[in-house]
Amino acid sequence: MKLAIDRERLLSEIEALAALSDGEAPAVTRIVFTPTDLKARAWMKARCQDAGLVVRQDAIGNGFARWTGSDPSAPVVGTGSHTDAIPNAGKYDGVVGVLGGLEAIRALQQAGFRPKHSIELLVFTSEEPTRFGIGCLGSRLLSGTLTADAATSLRDDSGASVEEVRRQAGLAGDLREVQLPRGYYKAFVELHIEQGPVLEREGVPLGVVEKIAAPASLRVIVEGAGGHAGAVLMPDRRDALCAAAELILAIESAGQSSGAVDTVATVGICEVFPGAINSIPARVRLGVDIRDTSLARRDGVMRTVDEACRRIAGQRRVCIHTELLNADAPADCGPAIIRALSDACKKHQFSFLPMTSRAYHDSLFIARIAPVAMLFIPCRNGYSHRPDEYASPEDIARGTLVLAETLATLAG
Ligand code: GLV
Ligand code: MN
Ligand code: MN
Repeated sequence: MKLAIDRERLLSEIEALAALSDGEAPAVTRIVFTPTDLKARAWMKARCQDAGLVVRQDAIGNGFARWTGSDPSAPVVGTGSHTDAIPNAGKYDGVVGVLGGLEAIRALQQAGFRPKHSIELLVFTSEEPTRFGIGCLGSRLLSGTLTADAATSLRDDSGASVEEVRRQAGLAGDLREVQLPRGYYKAFVELHIEQGPVLEREGVPLGVVEKIAAPASLRVIVEGAGGHAGAVLMPDRRDALCAAAELILAIESAGQSSGAVDTVATVGICEVFPGAINSIPARVRLGVDIRDTSLARRDGVMRTVDEACRRIAGQRRVCIHTELLNADAPADCGPAIIRALSDACKKHQFSFLPMTSRAYHDSLFIARIAPVAMLFIPCRNGYSHRPDEYASPEDIARGTLVLAETLATLAG
């Protein structure tokens, strides 16, 4: 079978999707269930229909586009990723896996391949945590990692619940029906940019992911006492921002002192209330993200952060309240898919590295119900989640070709 990737079509589709954005180019912002996100979904659905795929959407908006196999009752081979993007993001995170997945399917069709197992492209809802505070909303529900009841009550910053917002987006149906039965997938494979510097630094064009690190996130509220910035004297203050500043540094130091390079700890959100120059900060909200390849070490860092909260609250006479948003286990990838990906690389004489994904992906959750693996391509300087995120046309096409070969092996 001779597979040909239509690189020009794929690149022009990546550009077309990037134009559906609430950020000013080159930044891409596409938050779940906004009008722009809904436009992107409709655009994607039309591309899948053009390719002759049978499309459906579940109650949370996960999109499925199926190329039916010669044995329609056989377990499905899945591929795909997400099209939502954090504020001020780039155009490749998630999109390469979605449009690359579609192009891989078209290349297989073009080559006359006939799958035995159906091949299904998935576009997951809200891989990014921007709106509802928790990442991978769609794949958590698909895998039963998050219950329908817990999902329904998640709220965005304006107080709107997932339930309200999805209904406004035209999604009816029962969220309990989103969960896929065990055995639905034979295999799931996700193409993605690396989002880190390893492949570029090593000069290797592909990474075969063998493990996905364990993410956790917390919401922290620091409650102090507000007041007049001129009239309240320093000994009397209970400044919430000063306490939060100490906590932010304690979180950084907990990440640094775990003894492993794989430990990372980030405070990516810091909101100050009331946020006036002449008013002592009364309340601060922090968003904290802690990850590691080792679950025990990740949980150890979380305990250290907990202790820091108690210590700082006591010393500064503030209240610190933490809410655990998620604490997920890592996932090991499936040996058969790792082998299929590695064999596809070897067939085309592409060198590859076995890798760990330090970013999380929907594959982390699909791994709870099916064997998964991921294929990484380099991104310039390791940049991701920023507007200058970039993957070269050669790397995108190479990853798509290896994906297509792998899908053929798995679905044949
Ligand atoms: C996914 O976007 C992540 O934060 O790893
Ligand atoms: Mn992302
Ligand atoms: Mn992603």
